[in-house]
Amino acid sequence: MVTMKNVCIVGLGNLGKPLLDEMKKGPYNAVGYDKDPKRTEIPAIPKDADAYFITVLTTDQVADVLNQLPDDRLVVIESTISPDLLKTDVYKRKKAVVFSHRWFETDPGHQFFNQARVMGCAPDVRNEAKAFYEPIYKHRGLDFNKMVHMTDETTAALCKSVENAVRYVEIALAEELRMACDRNGVSFEKLRAAINTKWNINVKEARDGVGGHCLPKDMDIVLGSFVDEHGLFAKAKDVDVRYRKHIKAPRGAVAQ
Ligand SMILES: NC(=O)c1ccc[n+]([C@@H]2O[C@H](COP(=O)([O-])OP(=O)(O)OC[C@H]3O[C@@H](n4cnc5c(N)ncnc54)[C@H](O)[C@@H]3O)[C@@H](O)[C@H]2O)c1
Repeated sequence: MVTMKNVCIVGLGNLGKPLLDEMKKGPYNAVGYDKDPKRTEIPAIPKDADAYFITVLTTDQVADVLNQLPDDRLVVIESTISPDLLKTDVYKRKKAVVFSHRWFETDPGHQFFNQARVMGCAPDVRNEAKAFYEPIYKHRGLDFNKMVHMTDETTAALCKSVENAVRYVEIALAEELRMACDRNGVSFEKLRAAINTKWNINVKEARDGVGGHCLPKDMDIVLGSFVDEHGLFAKAKDVDVRYRKHIKAPRGAVAQ
């Protein structure tokens, strides 16, 4: 028998709104708050929810929401955050779980709970977090212990932003190769298809630059708080800038 809990999701954008719809399938009650009056379901964040999910865009916005939540309730951070947040007083006061989402809108096979995820929390919060999430997974025919990799908060926070920064670097590598191909009159697509016949290599596509609002934002988190600001990750940003200019130039796109 599942004890009914009330959950409030704060931030009803690209991730928060579909997550709210998913959470409404049970086993708990879920409501959603957004500071945008056109998006919100309720006028203010309730003070008495059993758990809060934060799905706002930036680390500063997460800190702002944390400031508005009670200290004695479970707070699940689904947003991607800078690990610097973990050092702040407001974070330390909370019973927080870092569960940054890997949701990918166009991939129903890997969405809210049917995908491997990483959860980070302090040892004294771990049992409560598991007790809260196990019924959510069970309700969907899934086993929390098989789907969720438990770790510490710093690793969980870094995992999501580094994941996206690595994707950024991989795309920049494809962009660099595509520019070299264009300069040398070689078909990038033919070269890529040939290289990717090797079982342990996967050169990405080179399209129209590193897009979306998550990859650039998360690359900046990694550059600002973790890796050498003059190293490979920083160079990947320069490559993307050059590549965008390259594909706009009259003779940029050749030899496909
Ligand atoms: N969009 C994705 O595909 C995706 C996938 C995985 C993870 N994420 C992460 O999830 C987080 C949210 O991303 P998103 O794409 O949904 O962002 P978004 O900009 O679409 O939505 C954020 C929402 O938060 C609201 N908001 C901001 N500050 C608020 C506050 N103080 N109180 C209440 N509401 C507030 C905004 O009005 C907005 O509706 C980000 O950290 C992102 O990196 C996004």
